[in-house]
Amino acid sequence: MLIRYKKSFDKIAMGLLSFMPDEKDLKKLQQTKNLYETEENWQLFLWKEDDDIIGLIGVVVNDDRVEIQHISVNPSYRDQGIGKSMVKALKQLYEEKEVIPNKYIVDFFHKCNEKEDRS
Ligand SMILES: CC(C)(COP(=O)(O)OP(=O)(O)OC[C@H]1O[C@@H](n2cnc3c(N)ncnc32)[C@H](O)[C@@H]1OP(=O)(O)O)[C@@H](O)C(=O)NCCC(=O)NCCS
Repeated sequence: MLIRYKKSFDKIAMGLLSFMPDEKDLKKLQQTKNLYETEENWQLFLWKEDDDIIGLIGVVVNDDRVEIQHISVNPSYRDQGIGKSMVKALKQLYEEKEVIPNKYIVDFFHKCNEKEDRS
């Protein structure tokens, strides 16, 4: 399930964010985390299964659009549909808005939609 980020998840969130290709630099990573902690329209969510936090999805929320900025799954849990489930849960959370990907996520996002369209 999708849960909202809070400060106590700081370390796990940093670890998951660091898997993003554009978040390899520690300074950049800290700046990104600060954005999620301070900017009202930057919203970060974590994916919890049983008692483990195994995924992260971060967005920027505008009037009519929600742009996914970051998505990451713990490597031990990849290729099990968790990334796709996070996108689906996010769409349900913001059902009144259009959910779109940023340039890093566009291929994965379309892959998720492909399957959705077929089912
Ligand atoms: C990208 C990521 C979040 C996918 O999470 P995941 O839980 O493994 O994804 P799913 O199991 O839900 O995959 C759903 C489909 O997307 C495909 N897919 C996975 N990563 C992809 C990528 N980077 N680009 C395009 N398609 C991708 C999978 O092969 C799968 O397709 P299939 O059902 O035909 O086999 C995960 O690989 C990750 O954390 N990567 C590092 C962070 C990153 O690079 N994020 C930005 C790129 S999206």
